[in-house]
Amino acid sequence: MTAIVPPTVDVHLSGSDLRAAMERDVRRGLGQDPKSLPPVYFYDDRGSRLFDEITRLDEYYPTRMERSILDAHAGDMAQQSKADTLVELGAGTCEKSRTLLDAMTDAGLLERFVPLDVSETTLWSAATALARDYPGLAVNAVVGDFHLHLDALPAGGRRLIAFLGGTVGNLDQGERRRFFGALSATMGPEDRLLIGTDLVKDEARLVAAYDDAGGVTAEFNRNVLHVLNRELGADFAPDRFEHVARWNEDARRMEMWLRADSEQRVRISDLDLEVGYSRGEEMLTEISTKFTTAGLECELDGHGFDVETMWKSDGNEFALTLARPHFR
Ligand code: AVJ
Repeated sequence: MTAIVPPTVDVHLSGSDLRAAMERDVRRGLGQDPKSLPPVYFYDDRGSRLFDEITRLDEYYPTRMERSILDAHAGDMAQQSKADTLVELGAGTCEKSRTLLDAMTDAGLLERFVPLDVSETTLWSAATALARDYPGLAVNAVVGDFHLHLDALPAGGRRLIAFLGGTVGNLDQGERRRFFGALSATMGPEDRLLIGTDLVKDEARLVAAYDDAGGVTAEFNRNVLHVLNRELGADFAPDRFEHVARWNEDARRMEMWLRADSEQRVRISDLDLEVGYSRGEEMLTEISTKFTTAGLECELDGHGFDVETMWKSDGNEFALTLARPHFR
């Protein structure tokens, strides 16, 4: 029997940092034209439950597609990367990590798991469960934000840095350039990136995935208003905003907007701020960029990575890409 190694949780982001970031983001986003809010604020407990429900909807294919690629190819990913350390960005409950951890165990290489997430409580419970389920595994969790704390990730060993779920699609071009640049700067020549991306496809299928018949995505979208009401003392009337999901052909991305059904004024008391919405005014709440395999390869190359292998789901709906930093 191998002994259980107690997990560590390294905190780089405090509750007050998160609070200050939210105040700054909301003030900035609502001051822009069009107004916008960053997607990270969807995910309180209710939002995380709604997202979980989305991943099980018939219309929402990305989670199932990514899962099918992982089930089929995690062994190849472990063998090709020869990694002894799995780093997962935005790890959440670490459920997906288990497939990769199992494959790395089978390859006889697994030593350490480093999940990064903004939620300390989620990380503590995930880290404790993983340390118990994988005796001998060192679990070194990092509470942080992948925009800010990539250099806080422990170095050493051969790291496979996984960024799954298509979350990179939430970043616009400039944000992706900064993210890939910061990430490649922290990687050694033996480290590998494993990135999940949704692919460009039929518009009707894309729109359905973000505007499901049961209205779960609509509730998820409006949840950001409930979060601002609770966290910032705002008085949004969520049911007076309609869910809009639209394909932006030029930018090759799905967009979610909230459209005011009438003229309204909202007060955000913790920011001492009043905002007005005209009837029909739309506020951008999420972008979800879709890639072509050639476009992704080109973008990675431009931002410091060579693609080693790309695995695509049946029907080329989703891709998992293994890439190495350019030789420096
Ligand atoms: C978790 C960011 C990958 O963009 O598809 C699902 C979030 N938004 N339905 C995505 C989401 C609406 C999701 N990501």
